[in-house]
Amino acid sequence: MPWVLLIVASYLAGSIPFGLLMARVVRGIDIRQEGSGNIGATNVSRSLGKKWGLVVLVLDALKGYLPPLFLPGIVGLGGDAGSASAWVIPMSAMTTVIGHMFPIWLGFKGGKGIATSLGALGAASPWGLLVATICFFGSFAINKIVSLSSLIALAGYLAFELIFWQVPLAFRPSDGLQGATTPQAIMAIVLSILIVYRHKSNLARLRAGTEPTFFQKKSN
Ligand code: G3P
Repeated sequence: MPWVLLIVASYLAGSIPFGLLMARVVRGIDIRQEGSGNIGATNVSRSLGKKWGLVVLVLDALKGYLPPLFLPGIVGLGGDAGSASAWVIPMSAMTTVIGHMFPIWLGFKGGKGIATSLGALGAASPWGLLVATICFFGSFAINKIVSLSSLIALAGYLAFELIFWQVPLAFRPSDGLQGATTPQAIMAIVLSILIVYRHKSNLARLRAGTEPTFFQKKSN
């Protein structure tokens, strides 16, 4: 039962569509009819301005970061939950991102999962987040395209989690600290598949050479 509660509560937390709500409250518009049609921070920035994009980025990241830290304790899976303990945070983190991408409130058509993954990785895989952040800014400095840089960050994160899966970290080999645990590696694989799937329209535009930079407008 605690696991069911953890999954349901994480999903519901992730499914709060901050971008959609913000656009409705601030401008009275449906963000799904604007720009790329996405409910995420990039499209809010495009449609409402960078200030509101930043607010949505922070809120979406927090809904990925806070549930995995607090929900396990609330549902009775906090502390040492025995052999399941390594799974608790990654499962909750992954489910918040799934909630963002497939929210029940919006007919399971949500965002692309980048900002929520930022927070989720902060809670479940800080090393993965570091690698992803470096890849994102390295790419963005060159091409200025958020979707492409997000996918490159995702590839870097996935590669890190797979290459360092169960590899003891050199500076703490004695306590068994690993570059990536099995739950972290599975989370990376699941998130990669889902995030690439949610970016299929971006991938089509990138192939066609029509994906705009962060500083250009975009139509559906
Ligand atoms: O945050 C999602 C980003 O990768 C792409 O968003 O609005 O440019 O499709 P968008």
